[in-house]
Amino acid sequence: MQHVGQRVRLGGWVHRRRDLGGILFIDLRDRAGLVQVAIGPGAPDEVRRVAAGLGSETVIEIEGDVTARPASMKNPELATGDVEVQATRLAVLGAAVTPPIPVARGKGEELPAEELRLKYRHLDLRRPEMQGNLLLRHRLLQRARRTLADLEFLEIETPILTKPTPEGARDYLVPSRVHPGEFYALPQSPQIYKQLLMVAGFDRYFQIARCFRDEDLRNDRQPEFTQIDLEASFVGVEDVIGYVEQVLVALWDEAGHTVARPFPRLTWRDAMERYGTDKPDLRFGLVIGDWTAQVKALGVPFFQPALKDGARIRGLAVKGGAALSRKDVDQLADAAKQLGGAGLAWVKRQGEQISGSVGKHFTPEVLGALGVADGDAALMTVGPDRVTSPVLDRVRQEVIRRLAPAPHAAHAFCWVVDFPLFEPDPETGRPVFAHHPFTAPHPDDVARLDTDPFACRALHYDAVYDGNELGSGSIRITDPAVQRRVFAHLGMTPGEVEARFGFLLSGLQAGAPPHGGFAIGFDRVVMALAGADSMRDVIAFPKTTAARALFEGAPSPANPADLAALHIEVKR
Ligand code: AMO
Repeated sequence: MQHVGQRVRLGGWVHRRRDLGGILFIDLRDRAGLVQVAIGPGAPDEVRRVAAGLGSETVIEIEGDVTARPASMKNPELATGDVEVQATRLAVLGAAVTPPIPVARGKGEELPAEELRLKYRHLDLRRPEMQGNLLLRHRLLQRARRTLADLEFLEIETPILTKPTPEGARDYLVPSRVHPGEFYALPQSPQIYKQLLMVAGFDRYFQIARCFRDEDLRNDRQPEFTQIDLEASFVGVEDVIGYVEQVLVALWDEAGHTVARPFPRLTWRDAMERYGTDKPDLRFGLVIGDWTAQVKALGVPFFQPALKDGARIRGLAVKGGAALSRKDVDQLADAAKQLGGAGLAWVKRQGEQISGSVGKHFTPEVLGALGVADGDAALMTVGPDRVTSPVLDRVRQEVIRRLAPAPHAAHAFCWVVDFPLFEPDPETGRPVFAHHPFTAPHPDDVARLDTDPFACRALHYDAVYDGNELGSGSIRITDPAVQRRVFAHLGMTPGEVEARFGFLLSGLQAGAPPHGGFAIGFDRVVMALAGADSMRDVIAFPKTTAARALFEGAPSPANPADLAALHIEVKR
């Protein structure tokens, strides 16, 4: 309202045009939002003529006087809803063809198909939601930089044309023209470089790092993504966790949320035992129990065949679970079977009545001991932990989705610590690294490195938020001998180690300070804070789940002359 009476000059896009006969309204849009331009009977003829022919998304410039809207015409949903501009001049600065997807959308109107949104991204990005997401992204990035710089971290850029850094995905390779048959790799992360920066004495490093990973994509993964990457020397787990918490608390604060520190902590073993996953959603209770002793005694046929070789009966006592329909339970059981489980056994308790697939074996006393009260349900499965954990994780998430219990907290951060150093490869059973091969073994477990590698814990910690892994880090191996032993466990020959990681080992031999670090998945942070379901909604020009850029049309076939210069022949 403070602009009423002023003459203004505004540029923007024609968001909507409404012709009411005598008077024509244009909603003019720019980064800041919308303003209503009125072209009434008093406007110059030329202005009225041009306005009458304006198509949506045309770029115009207007000049006019700001007036207060009559009370009945005010729009409380708009920041500028109390005023309008009476145009006295209007110029078309950029004509627009009829947009293939609409930018303006009525209440409740569906978005165009995502493929179209990605293809015509310049239009999709004009939508206020996308403008808001990218503005938030910008602010979070500035805040991350400021926070780390204040903590005396130095921003240092590392190369994009590099040697492969293993983070568990495939590499994107870039052929060298001057060295026939040789390739650079795009970095999966700046991991080795940041460790070498510690060897070089930089003490505290950070980078807003672009990472490239050729892996199966999902809604929370992109082939090209951004990390807030950091590393520090002369630190232990507590120091790194402290730095990362300060950054995360600052980012949540930037988005208007107050988060308390320190974040709760769970060991990996506890997370798997209680929630069946290393990224538990602690907004909700619903903890998995070991019911083997109580339920085994009942002699239920469903459980008997699987009860061998250390298999356990584990279950969830679901508060209010008696409200789950038969269809709900059947769908949960199907989901359990898909994950390779024995399936799901269930019992419902409603007053005196005990029902369900194995209900007849259960008594009120046994159910009471399992924490299943009147109105609740028990969902159980049997098998080795590697099967029952993912099954019960999935069932827990589904139950939460279907029953929508009130969350304990709005923002549930936690740390998961003490991950195992190695995991068995699901196909060969051989050790593969759980984080990356530079992660230090837990000092209490180094002695077991050769005798019982799978029992070895790592100084590896993850930050989890509402059931999503936001970031990951570890204290690194600085003893070249230990580093060689870890490579050997991963099946690498000394020659291979030298060829792939010789530059790291030579760094570690040059006087390496103890060091450790972390990488926050920045796109996941923006997704969480923007409330977006897809990472594509917080990246200006993302790839599809098939790793295609629809807007610019990449990847695309290369020119034969370029391929020849790169000494490459394509086999079809
Ligand atoms: P890690 O591989 O766990 O660790 O990656 C850290 C975080 O990066 C995010 N992230 C992704 N985000 C979007 N798309 C992807 N394809 C993708 N892959 C990973 C996740 C993940 O938690 N160098 C180590 C860190 C360290 O040890 O310091 C690393 O990269 O949020």
